[in-house]
Amino acid sequence: MVGGNLKRDELYVKKIRDGTVIDHISAGLALNVLKILKITGKDGRTVSVAMNVPSGKYVRKDIIKVEDRELKPVEVDKIALIAPKSTINIIRNYEVHEKKRVKLPEVIKDITRCSNPSCITNANEPVEPMFKIEKTEPLCLRCLYCGRITEQDAILSQL
Ligand code: CTP
Ligand code: ZN
Repeated sequence: MVGGNLKRDELYVKKIRDGTVIDHISAGLALNVLKILKITGKDGRTVSVAMNVPSGKYVRKDIIKVEDRELKPVEVDKIALIAPKSTINIIRNYEVHEKKRVKLPEVIKDITRCSNPSCITNANEPVEPMFKIEKTEPLCLRCLYCGRITEQDAILSQL
């Protein structure tokens, strides 16, 4: 249709041939997801980000499309921390090859340090930080050793 209005089902970002589509990210969180995945755009791959696009009647969402890269399970688990409602679609030859819901792990490791400077995990001891999830969106983690809460802003600023 030439000169017509945007059709109701028109895509904001065109379909990709191969890669990963992170869909249904809560509106406004896409940049945090990119940060936790350490996707900077510096490796030359095409990455499209759409923020606050309409999804359903009242809801809005963010979408990330990373071309020529299939996210690993450990990366998918990281997304759950920031955007627990998102869906990961692995795309091969334009088709959705696999659709995964992200899931929150019981215990969080390898993401962040404890915000308590006197915590044993911050002393010179071979104790790696471990947390359980206190709350999501925004994320709050409770240290399994000292009980201190570390908040999302602190977590993101360490990435
Ligand atoms: N997608 C894409 N490129 C493709 C295939 C799909 O960018 N070659 C995107 C779609 O635009 C959509 C997501 O991947 O954002 C999932 O595609 P699909 O499962 O076809 O869409 P829905 O059925 O709407 O997904 P859901 O049920 O998860 O909402
Ligand atoms: Zn601690």
